[in-house]
Order: sequence, then C-alpha cells, then structure tokens
Amino acid sequence: MTSLYAQVYQDWQTDPLAFWAKAGVAIDWIKPWDTVFDPDSGPYGRWYAGAECNTCYNAVDRHVLAGRGDQDALIHDSAITGTVRKISYSDLQAEIEALASVLVDKGVGKGDRVIIYMAMVPEAVVAMLACARIGAVHSVVFGGFAANELATRIDDAKPVMIIATSCGLEPGRVVAYKPMLDKAIEQAQHKVATCLILVRPQQPHELVSGRDIDYAQAVAASVGRKVPCEPLKSTDPLYILYTSGTTGQPKGVVRDNGGHLVALAWSMGAIYDTYPGDVFWAASDIGWAVGHSYIAYAPLFVGATSILYEGKPVGTPDAGTFWRVIADHKVKVLFTAPTAFRAIKKEDPKGELIGRYDISSLKYLFLAGERADTDTIKWAEQKLGVPVIDHWWQTESGWPMAANPAGLGMLPVKYGSPTVPMPGYDVQVLDDAGHPVKRGELGNIVVKLPLPPAFLPTLWNADQRFREAYISEFPGYYKTADAGIMDEDGYIYIMSRTDDIINVAGHRLSTGAMEEVLSSHPDVAECAVIGIADSVKGQVPCGFIVLKSGVTRSEADIEQDCVALMREKIGPVAAFKMAITAKRLPKTRSGKILRGTMQKIADQEPWNMPATIDDPAILEEIQLVLNARGIGLVTG
Ligand code: COA
Ligand code: AMP
Repeated sequence: MTSLYAQVYQDWQTDPLAFWAKAGVAIDWIKPWDTVFDPDSGPYGRWYAGAECNTCYNAVDRHVLAGRGDQDALIHDSAITGTVRKISYSDLQAEIEALASVLVDKGVGKGDRVIIYMAMVPEAVVAMLACARIGAVHSVVFGGFAANELATRIDDAKPVMIIATSCGLEPGRVVAYKPMLDKAIEQAQHKVATCLILVRPQQPHELVSGRDIDYAQAVAASVGRKVPCEPLKSTDPLYILYTSGTTGQPKGVVRDNGGHLVALAWSMGAIYDTYPGDVFWAASDIGWAVGHSYIAYAPLFVGATSILYEGKPVGTPDAGTFWRVIADHKVKVLFTAPTAFRAIKKEDPKGELIGRYDISSLKYLFLAGERADTDTIKWAEQKLGVPVIDHWWQTESGWPMAANPAGLGMLPVKYGSPTVPMPGYDVQVLDDAGHPVKRGELGNIVVKLPLPPAFLPTLWNADQRFREAYISEFPGYYKTADAGIMDEDGYIYIMSRTDDIINVAGHRLSTGAMEEVLSSHPDVAECAVIGIADSVKGQVPCGFIVLKSGVTRSEADIEQDCVALMREKIGPVAAFKMAITAKRLPKTRSGKILRGTMQKIADQEPWNMPATIDDPAILEEIQLVLNARGIGLVTG
C-alpha cells in the first residue's frame, strides 16, 4: 500500500507549483502572488513573486483576531533562574507593538537591519517579531560568540540598531554581554547609532550616554501604542542569520517572508504533527536556525504554544530538567540535538529521573543538527516510549530536508537514517564528477534546483558567493556539503561533511576559521584544526600547531595562549580546549595538509597511508603526540 508520504511526495513531484500554491493557502496574504515561482529572479528563482504579506501578522495578529488571544503563545521557562513566564497571544501582540513603536521612533524602518544579541529571554522573540512587523531585517547573533564575531557581523549587516541583553546566564556563571557589545562596536568599521539594552538584574550595566537606551523604560513608555503590520513583498528579507563558512568570514543566510511562512507552516502539520493549541518545544537557542524556525516562528505561524527554555539538559539543576519542563507545560513535541540526550544519558543512564514526572503529554522526540547515533536513539525510544525521529537539515534550508513525517503517518524507522526527502527536495547523490552514484554508494548529497520555499534565496549582499559556495560545483544542483548514501528504498544516510565544517554539541563551526585564529599567534608557523570524536558533544576541535623556529617560550605556554585566543576571537561556543604542538604536519606532495587522516588516527578509525603523502614518518609523529595526550590510543 502506498504511504501517505509517498502520495504527498508524488503530488509535489508531479506539479511542484500546484503543491506550493495549495500550501500557500494556510497563510494570510495582503496581496496574492503573480506567480508561485519566478525562475528569472535571484540566483535560482524566487517564491510567491508579486505577493505581499507580513510575517508578524501571520505569527500573532491573525490568531488574536481568530479568538486565540488568551492562549499562551510563548512560555519562557528559565531553569537557571527558576522562573516561568507565560505570554498569551494578546500580550505578545501588545509587547511587540510597544517595542515596534520604540524602533519606529528611533527611525528604524523597512529594510533596515537590526542585530539582536540576546540571551534566551522572551524579549528576544519579541524583538524578532517587532522587526518583522515593521519590515526591518533582524540578524540574531548567538550569545556564545565573542566580540570579534559580533564585529564581523556588524560590518557585514550594517545595522542601524542593536538590541542586546546585559548578560546571558550559563550554569554557575553570568556572561556579561554588554562589555562584548561595547568592544565589538569599537572594533567594527560600521558605526551603530543606537543600542537598546535589556538590563537583567544579574548584571546591571552603565549605559553609554547618547547611544544606549534602557529597553524596559523605553518599552514601558510605549505600552498601548499601535503599530500596523507593514505590507512586505514575499521576497523581501525577513532575517539574516550568519553561519560558518569555510573561512573566518561567515555566510549571511537570507530568509524571505513568503516562502518562509508557507514552508514552515506546512512543516508543522506534515512533519511535526503539531496544530493550533499544541505545545511545541525546540530546546535550542534563538541564535541558531532551529531556534529561529522552531522557537520563534513556526509554532506561532500555526497558533501553537512555543517553549523558550533557558538552561541546559543537565546541571540546571539535574538530568531531569527536560522531563520537568515537559510535565509542567504539557509539551507534545520535543525537538533537540542528539548531544543533549547523550548528556542526559551520561548523567542518568537508567533514566531514573524520568519516572518522577508525568510526561504522558509527549508524543514525539525529534533530533537534528548532527548525526544521531543509534545507541542514543534506542535509549530515548526505550526510556520515553515515543517515536524518536532523526531528521536532517541545515541553516541554509531553515526546515527539514529529510525526515520521517509524523503528520503524514510514520514510515518504518531505519536506524542511522533521517529517513526520506521532504516534498520540495529532489535529493540525489553524485560522484565528484557530477554523475549519479548507484543506490547504496557514498557520494555528494545534492538537491536539484530550484530549492523549495524558505530555503535561502541567496547570501546577504553576496549573490556571487552564493553561486560559488552552493550551485557552481554541480550545475543544476545545490551542494549540501554533506556526503552520504541513498538506499534502495530512498532512505538517506548522512555520513560526513565534505568541507571543513565540524559539529560541536550540535553547533556548526568552521575549522578554517579556527585555523585563521591559530595562525594569528605570533609563535605559530602553521597549524591544522580537526574535529575529533567526543562521547557527549559528538565532535570537539583539536588544533595542531607547529612553532616558528627560534621560539623560546615553552610549548605548554603557547598552547595555553592558543586556547585563550580562540575563546577571545571566536568565543566559548568553539569549545576549543586542545592545542597540541607538533614538529611537522603531514602533507601531500602538493602541500595539502592530511587533516582527514589525522582525524582517523585520533578517532582510532582504520586508515590507509595516502599514496600522495610527502613523508610517511610524520603521521607516526602525529600518532605519538596524540597518544601522549591520551588521544587515539589503540585499545583492546
Ligand atoms: N552565551 C554565552 N556563553 C555560552 C552560551 C551563551 N548563549 N551558550 C553556550 N555558552 C558557552 C558555555 O558556557 C560553554 O562555556 P565553557 O567553555 O566556559 O563551559 C561553551 O559556550 C560551550 O557551550 P555548549 O556547547 O552549550 O556546551 P556545554 O558544555 O555548556 O553543554 C550540552 C553541552 C551538550 C549540554 C549543550 O551543548 C546542549 O544542550 N546542546 C544541545 C542543544 C543545542 O543547543 N543544540 C543546538 C542546535 S539544535
Ligand atoms: P546547521 O547548519 O548548524 O544546522 O548544520 C547543518 C549540518 O549539520 C548538516 O549539513 C549536517 O552535516 C549536520 N546535520 C544536521 N542534521 C543532521 C542529521 N539528522 N544527521 C546527520 N547530520 C546532520
């Protein structure tokens, strides 16, 4: 019997435009589209060309008008401060309008950029939606990034305003954001006129006179003011989200208004089986794509309740905190990264804390962001008694490219596979020359153009970089930069990245950017950063440094410098704790560093001596320096 998924996917394949026109009915448009897809605009075309809409209206106002005003829109549960704040759709609308009027008073308008550098507080979502309401383009910067990363984003996005919290709260430490903000503004070429600072009690800060405005005071003075939703083109940018590229210059992923609304609303029902009134919890951070799509936007697009969680899966206060949140707020769907479950499993291997809570509301656990190992999936299935769904996506896609679509009826689970492509994605596997490989063979995973609604239409002010990064290598296809397999049943297996991106605790990091930081150390002649296996974080970075000749400082001191430099330049999120001095780096005869082989040695995976290696003895040296640190020791 054909599955509902197969029918829906076939509908899309038969007539993609009719499929996306039908999905577009779920959205309230100010003006209908002239054409569902315009193939002649942008690097590969644009969705819902000619249409006008407003994302904030669809997320909030229309639900209030439809009588959903008293329902919780957001529940802020801070395991760190022990507080819970529930915000109804009506209250959210009022808060958004109050903030939007502050923005308008300060001259922020359609097309202006606003950087949001905030902790996991409701005001962060309010800020995103207030920008969306007036047509300003927000760019959220994750709090775990250092001043330097923030400065890079300021120079690229050129914001007229920055909205920030005075601090973020990590277990056992208050992370002062305000000094990082001041440093970034000083460092950036582009000068920002206004900062709106939400001062949290944990970290009061002096405001810079003439530049900084107190968020709470400004918003309080604007309570009750009305700000209409600006009619925007479907193709106008809603936000820019910077993600790791292959260099220190991050890529500004652009998301538009119309396509984003349609695809995300579609995904809530079809993939997540989530409808008006359901409680949806994406345990991520608003600084990541998951947080944008599935904390701030998609649950609200469909009138569900979204949980905004400030805390960790363990240590705030214990490995039972997820179950407490599920029980307290009757969460139906939990979405997080496998690393969170590995952390919980490590602390509470028998899952004993689960029994203390009534988690009967939970119907599904979705995992994404990194490879979900079978042990973790089986552990979660057994302990929670609900389907555990691995699904695959990227910051660029903004919604799942492959999943087991819960709302269309589940397909049989194959461990190790995020299941099948979603409508919109014609996923294929090609060899390096661009020829299709046989089913079951490893190759480059690509998506046939055009990409579906919500997928990035381009990079911010960088069409050419978009083309070079994504669509030039395999003409007619988008390069995902993931390598993998498609089996006889059409199930996809994601094996590894084909570029220098590594995945640390579900966070995407560029080893190229880290190498740029290490190279900037005055004593470092050359370096290589690889991701090595970690039982909780999936991967952690490990940097090899070769010192300049004549350097007299101790290796240990320089290694410590490198760790500190990475924290200062990229931020704590890089989780860079391992710098290792080597005499030489293994290279091919053409001078390419053999990072892949080094990683296999560190992870004790089988490896072959590369035919093109310049000097095989160097790999033995690398093995020895790793072993001396207890890494890559052959055991058993
Ligand atoms: N502001 C400032 N610092 C931050 C931060 C923020 N918003 N978020 C993280 N950091 C810091 C942490 O304090 C830590 O610093 P440390 O080196 O001083 O300990 C560092 O950045 C790394 O943070 P993190 O990656 O969160 O690691 P962790 O060891 O604190 O926790 C996990 C590990 C697995 C529990 C955690 O990463 C996790 O829950 N991940 C899964 C959910 C998720 O966020 N997924 C993202 C995509 S879905
Ligand atoms: P990000 O842009 O941070 O979402 O990272 C995207 C990358 O994470 C993908 O290109 C994959 O390499 C990896 N990834 C995301 N989801 C999965 C998954 N379910 N299985 C394996 N890898 C994944």
